[in-house]
Amino acid sequence: MALKLRKLSYALGAEVCGVDVAMPMSESTFGEIYQAFLGHGILLFRDQDITRSQHIEFSRRFGALDRHETLPRDRHPDHPELLMVTNEPKPDGSPSDTKYTGRQWHSDMSFTTGPSLGSLLKSYEVPEVGGDTLFANMYAAYDALSGGMKKLIADLHGIHLSGTRKLANETTGIVRAEEQKRINPPVAQPVVRVHPETGRKALYIGEKVKRFDGMSEEESQPLIDYLVRHATQPEFLYRHQWRKNDILAWDNRCVMHQALGDFDETQLRHMERTTILGTPSGYVAT
Ligand code: SIN
Repeated sequence: MALKLRKLSYALGAEVCGVDVAMPMSESTFGEIYQAFLGHGILLFRDQDITRSQHIEFSRRFGALDRHETLPRDRHPDHPELLMVTNEPKPDGSPSDTKYTGRQWHSDMSFTTGPSLGSLLKSYEVPEVGGDTLFANMYAAYDALSGGMKKLIADLHGIHLSGTRKLANETTGIVRAEEQKRINPPVAQPVVRVHPETGRKALYIGEKVKRFDGMSEEESQPLIDYLVRHATQPEFLYRHQWRKNDILAWDNRCVMHQALGDFDETQLRHMERTTILGTPSGYVAT
């Protein structure tokens, strides 16, 4: 079967049209989907009114799934393969711990030595307007750097920290942040990562990077800021406007993303994500 693809933006992404991911799928059809995933960095599947188990089963076609041991508070209580990203208050009325998940430029699980291959995020409830997600093509961002900058960053490693910028809940948020620090010590990742499947170089940076290994925060910050600003220029971006029952799959090895807070927080935004395990990368920073 020839896949019907529709490009999502100049920079990256394609919609896969007419595929129900819950239906049996041959190896060759999935092979085409996976090639499109490698080629476009993001794939969108619309109108996927499927169960959690079907979301998990389809995700397994991409590779083994993370059980989110590094983010134990954020997992679905019955499905550890699903990471919650929701602003739905807890049963006791307190704010959700994952209300601000993803609100900074990042690549999933970069703060571990097994950063993710890719993620599949499904939308269950979306606000009337906004709640968009921005994505950046990090191959294109790397390619557009000058030769001098490519040389300068070639051997740098960025120290990635876990955690969100904003705490949803003053009490449980602080406990959660402390727990995160304990479970996830800082990890150094190459600033230029070679994609293990395509062999292409991509920038591997973001707002979870606090400094470069062997350098102080003060020395590192201007270059980190420059690289993030460079990579997030409009020509490298795709902005996803969610509809209920979208599944968006992205390649964390060449795409970074940020959830935007551009919506009315009294409205529900409820997403669930599977995270595909990637190959080892980086080292625990001392
Ligand atoms: C994430 O960072 O995985 C969540 C992105 C989003 O909620 O849009």
